[in-house]
Amino acid sequence: MNILVMKDYTEMSRQAALFIAASVTLKPDTVIGLPTGKTPVGMYNELVMLYKNGFVDFGRVTAFNLDEYVGLGREDPHSFYSYMQRHLFGYINIPPKNIHIPNGKAKDLKAECLRYEEIIRQKGPIDLMILGIGHNGHIGFNEPSSEFIPETHIENLTERTRKANARYFGSLQDIPRKAITMGLGTIMLSKKIILLAYGRDKADVILRTIKGNITPRFPASILRVHRDCTFILDQEAAGKIRDML
Ligand code: GLP
Repeated sequence: MNILVMKDYTEMSRQAALFIAASVTLKPDTVIGLPTGKTPVGMYNELVMLYKNGFVDFGRVTAFNLDEYVGLGREDPHSFYSYMQRHLFGYINIPPKNIHIPNGKAKDLKAECLRYEEIIRQKGPIDLMILGIGHNGHIGFNEPSSEFIPETHIENLTERTRKANARYFGSLQDIPRKAITMGLGTIMLSKKIILLAYGRDKADVILRTIKGNITPRFPASILRVHRDCTFILDQEAAGKIRDML
């Protein structure tokens, strides 16, 4: 596992965007996995700037988002679909047909999970997966569990996760209780993984990811057995692993 510690959030975001731009330049039909949350916002801004300045062309890229809330449609401003339009897809030249995000409003959610998994299988494996991390070690919406769930599935969100995302919704009640998420097996099949984290509140989870037991009780710990995984952190998120660097 490689660990890059950057000066601050801006540098972390820039470094991640440069990784993506380099991948797309080297392999124009890159298949990329993308997260939501507050962490990747700066990276998406940097990518939009790189695109607008002509440094990167997304015309042949395929994107798979990690997750979507159950019950929220594309038009819902709280959906991850809307988030991605607002922060990235609305400003770059990725063809709409190459954008894949689970449908949180599907009538048959199990069938939707199978459909999503199948498209990833057809177009994949994912070349470059970008991840954030939750305070309980979740990646995508893979919450702590008694087992690592390999494929796209429905996840019950923990109260902690719902509270962490409350800032985007009017009240805790409005936050969906379930999400569709890419599974850990599919994430681990990605050729390269980059995990981003910033801020003091992520220092403990980064320490536990890097040093704790590899266990489904702390899903991000599985990244330790990936062949090509890079963590890009700011100084604060790296605050408890300094002695290991
Ligand atoms: C969200 C997402 C994850 C994200 C994580 C951390 O709920 N499902 O993909 O990595 O929580 O979010 P943030 O970046 O806002 O801390």
